[in-house]
Amino acid sequence: MKILITGNMGYVGPCVIKRLRSILPDATLIGLDTGFFANGLTNAKILPECKADIQYFADVRSLPSGLLDNVDTVIHLAAISNDPMGNEFEDVTFEINYHSSIRLAKMAKKAGVKSFVFASSCSMYGTAEDEARTEESPLNPLTAYAKSKVFTEKELETLAENGFKVTCLRFATACGMSDRLRLDLVLNDFVAGAVASKKITILSDGTPWRPLIDVKDMAKAIEWAIFRQNDQGGEYLAVNAGSEEWNYQVKDLAKAVAEVVPDVNISINKDAMPDKRSYRVNFDRFKRLAPDHQPEVDLITSIKELKNGLEEMGFNDANFRNSQYMRLRVLTDLRHRGYLSENLEWQNI
Ligand SMILES: NC(=O)c1ccc[n+]([C@@H]2O[C@H](COP(=O)([O-])OP(=O)(O)OC[C@H]3O[C@@H](n4cnc5c(N)ncnc54)[C@H](O)[C@@H]3O)[C@@H](O)[C@H]2O)c1
Repeated sequence: MKILITGNMGYVGPCVIKRLRSILPDATLIGLDTGFFANGLTNAKILPECKADIQYFADVRSLPSGLLDNVDTVIHLAAISNDPMGNEFEDVTFEINYHSSIRLAKMAKKAGVKSFVFASSCSMYGTAEDEARTEESPLNPLTAYAKSKVFTEKELETLAENGFKVTCLRFATACGMSDRLRLDLVLNDFVAGAVASKKITILSDGTPWRPLIDVKDMAKAIEWAIFRQNDQGGEYLAVNAGSEEWNYQVKDLAKAVAEVVPDVNISINKDAMPDKRSYRVNFDRFKRLAPDHQPEVDLITSIKELKNGLEEMGFNDANFRNSQYMRLRVLTDLRHRGYLSENLEWQNI
């Protein structure tokens, strides 16, 4: 079996490669990444991409020829992966996240790829505090990032057919330790604050809802999507990937962190404007279709693994919201130093 994983050198990718390597020791794993965050290793014992058989350093906007020869499955993670980056680089976000995804899917279909797994996002529901959103609920993407995921899903649906199975996993917000940890995610931010300075600073009033999923369970869901049969959702499937128990209010996440890290002070911004990114998500479809691949990491375990990982790094940067563990910060630095063009293409290297 030959599997292409795009965006494998980010936060989620190393966990995906690790899982696939362990369950499919004989598969040929091919990574493709432009390497924006390649330097951001966090406790990795070996370069995570060494577990792949082939690594392309390439941009999804201009794919190498022969890339898809004899490939059975594509796992498409490569993206500008949050709202702050999407706001700063809006046109590029549509080019990378939407247009390039569709180009890749069309090439994959033509090359005979049988299964295409797309890393989508629950953020496409926008504000959704009233009732948990199902896959049938109206979409309300509020940002360029969320819109790029909606546009891609819509067009992928038209490409799916017998022999070209498409699965859009609408992931909850990720959390947990990885070989390339990022701290611009809510739970990771809280644990980093607790470890570095015994402080958790909640930027909202703490009431917004946020569904979460540990990165290891994202990899598990991806494994399910690769192998799912047509009676598990049909040729095209968009499914919320996460679990009911992980629909948390932000203040409860902070309290859970304070249970694990002693003597932590939690500050809440009582005057904050209502947070538009408050949403609850219904994961019944995923539970029904993938009973053997449900998330298994619990919140406290995820927090403990983050805490241990950060301590192992000797992490003590109270100003981490301005550090290399913030994806936007890395791109902005590379831009200022002249290594990335305004379109986020490598230059002067
Ligand atoms: N992290 C989350 O909370 C979350 C939640 C839902 C969905 N997702 C989706 O999962 C995927 C992976 O997320 P992540 O947290 O690992 O993000 P990440 O930013 O850590 O990794 C993305 C990777 O894509 C690569 N990439 C970006 N543009 C590229 C291009 N033009 N060509 C080749 N490679 C490119 C980057 O170099 C990076 O290694 C993304 O599609 C993201 O939208 C993430």
